[in-house]
Amino acid sequence: MNTIRLAVDGVNKIYAGQATRVVAVEDASAAFAEGSVTAIMGPSGSGKTTLLSILGLILKPSNGRVTLMGRDVTDLDEARLPELRRQHIGFIFQSFNLFSALSALENVLVALQLKKVARPEAEAAARSALSRVGLEQRMRFYPRDLSGGEKQRVSIARALATNAPIILADEPTANLDSHTGLAIIDLLAELAREQGRTVVVVTHDTRMQEHVDHTLRMEDGRVYEN
Ligand SMILES: Nc1ncnc2c1ncn2[C@@H]1O[C@H](COP(=O)(O)OP(=O)(O)O)[C@@H](O)[C@H]1O
Ligand SMILES: [Mg+2]
Repeated sequence: MNTIRLAVDGVNKIYAGQATRVVAVEDASAAFAEGSVTAIMGPSGSGKTTLLSILGLILKPSNGRVTLMGRDVTDLDEARLPELRRQHIGFIFQSFNLFSALSALENVLVALQLKKVARPEAEAAARSALSRVGLEQRMRFYPRDLSGGEKQRVSIARALATNAPIILADEPTANLDSHTGLAIIDLLAELAREQGRTVVVVTHDTRMQEHVDHTLRMEDGRVYEN
């Protein structure tokens, strides 16, 4: 059994407004091991993004526990969370979230600067991550000159370069054609296997299932093992 890097136990998330109350996640428990790729699937509105945000320490659950790298972080001081996130978690988004005024290389460097990695080391790590995702010929390109799949590769390189042991991806293939989308999922799976990263990827493409190790299904905020 590989080490569990990230886990939620009995997690609920309730969004309460003045006249509204949405139970977005209900009694969710799941554990994510080193070197594994887990897909979270389910219809729109089923709570996938909310659960991923809890896993990424962006949202606090209303109840339940979150464990990161063996440590219960549920009640940790808010002020310490950004540093924990930077150290342990790389995010990949549907919309790529690249800076349009920065080249592919600079987009990856920004993430390393946030971690205060010294310049020569940062440059080497950024180049190596971009090469790993097949963009060695595109390092000086700006996002506008990259295809959707290439832009998503830059954001994967950004998550990789920081050495984050955990990679959380929210519908990273939603803006890509299905062929490119599958290539992205395969790349994430390869990275998990080669580098022991823990990858959690939200998708609603059922064909992704055979490319991952585990699938969790969400429906109305509840998590089901597939
Ligand atoms: N900030 C919020 N305030 C109130 N309700 C929200 C908020 N974010 C999400 N929701 C609701 O929570 C439910 C789950 O949303 P979400 O986690 O985004 O689902 P998914 O990613 O599966 O589409 C939905 O009913 C959504 O409308
Ligand atoms: Mg979502």
